[in-house]
Amino acid sequence: MKGLLLSGGAGTRLRPITHTSAKQLVPIANRPILFYGIDDMAAAGVTEIGIVISPTTGNEIQLAVGDGSDFGVSVTYILQDEPLGLAHCVVVARDFLGDDDFVMYLGDNMLEQGLAGFVAQFENARAAINAPQLGKAPGVAPVAQILLAEVDDPTSFGVAELNDVDEVIRLVEKPSNPPSNLALVGVYLFDKTIHGAIEAIEPSPRGELEITDAIQQLIDDGHSVVHDVLSGWWIDTGKKDPLLECNRLVLESLEQRIDGHVDVDSVIEGRVVIEAGASIINSTVRGPAVIGADSIIDHSHIGPYSSVGLDCRITRSEIDNSVVLRRSRITDIPRLTDSLIGRDTEVERDPRRPRATRLMIGDHCHIGIE
Ligand code: G1P
Repeated sequence: MKGLLLSGGAGTRLRPITHTSAKQLVPIANRPILFYGIDDMAAAGVTEIGIVISPTTGNEIQLAVGDGSDFGVSVTYILQDEPLGLAHCVVVARDFLGDDDFVMYLGDNMLEQGLAGFVAQFENARAAINAPQLGKAPGVAPVAQILLAEVDDPTSFGVAELNDVDEVIRLVEKPSNPPSNLALVGVYLFDKTIHGAIEAIEPSPRGELEITDAIQQLIDDGHSVVHDVLSGWWIDTGKKDPLLECNRLVLESLEQRIDGHVDVDSVIEGRVVIEAGASIINSTVRGPAVIGADSIIDHSHIGPYSSVGLDCRITRSEIDNSVVLRRSRITDIPRLTDSLIGRDTEVERDPRRPRATRLMIGDHCHIGIE
């Protein structure tokens, strides 16, 4: 079984962060989202991985992941010239995939549950059909397996309709009248039958070749598409609040590690990671939280569910439930919460008169002033 990780796309819902960086490289607990997907594949025994990249962020993804050896996998990069849909990614990856079975994983999705059980379920179902037990009628081998999760707002996902005996009978992409609250999670298993199904579909109203439509095509052609309903959490991290929620959930499983320096006037409470080279000076860090290498936390309070990246400086400030990317400076800010702060950013109190908020912000930003 091969792996196909999708890491293209424009990331418009995470602007302005994605003006300068790939959405799949935004860190969750100080590790790029994409790395968790590679780990999940490696843990499921999938070691030949194709990563679909875009012309704009492909280089950055290649620099971050390399040849995959850090993860114990081998990575092939596949360029998708234009973001023409998830099924289009399968088309451009055709040479890499050959006729092999594959697991496709959206690089901005994160699941609590690993992939191993999901992959084993598909392989077992196919093996059982190919070698039926004596006395039992052979069944139909599944050609695809999808993963579903109950969501509050199905209109922003692909949605599955099941019949009385729990079989998938229909799939619709972003329906205005959803037939159920079961969304398609961004993890799919396919055999080579999917390639013919993709050839048979047309672009959707948003101009994309939808993988949801290709799976519907498999069902229409009489193939067996099986499903599993997710038990743990699943987050499509493409927007700020889900991203912060994902950061919270991952930090929950953090194991305490203090490799940096904590001075005698500082207090570390709960599960906290302080990376090597970081300094905590006269400050409180209340976990779960992670402080990146070479960062300085000075006369500040870092509250629960905060991830402070590499080489940041937080001075006389209080932050919680926030993700701060590398080399940012936060100075004299009494309370910063629920925030995503990009790289090389400065947030500071301005002592000049008249007392006012003075901004120099990029395109597509969101500022919430108390
Ligand atoms: C895509 C799929 C959708 C699926 C979702 C999961 O949506 O088209 O069916 O439910 O990923 O994250 P998109 O992120 O392209 O809007």
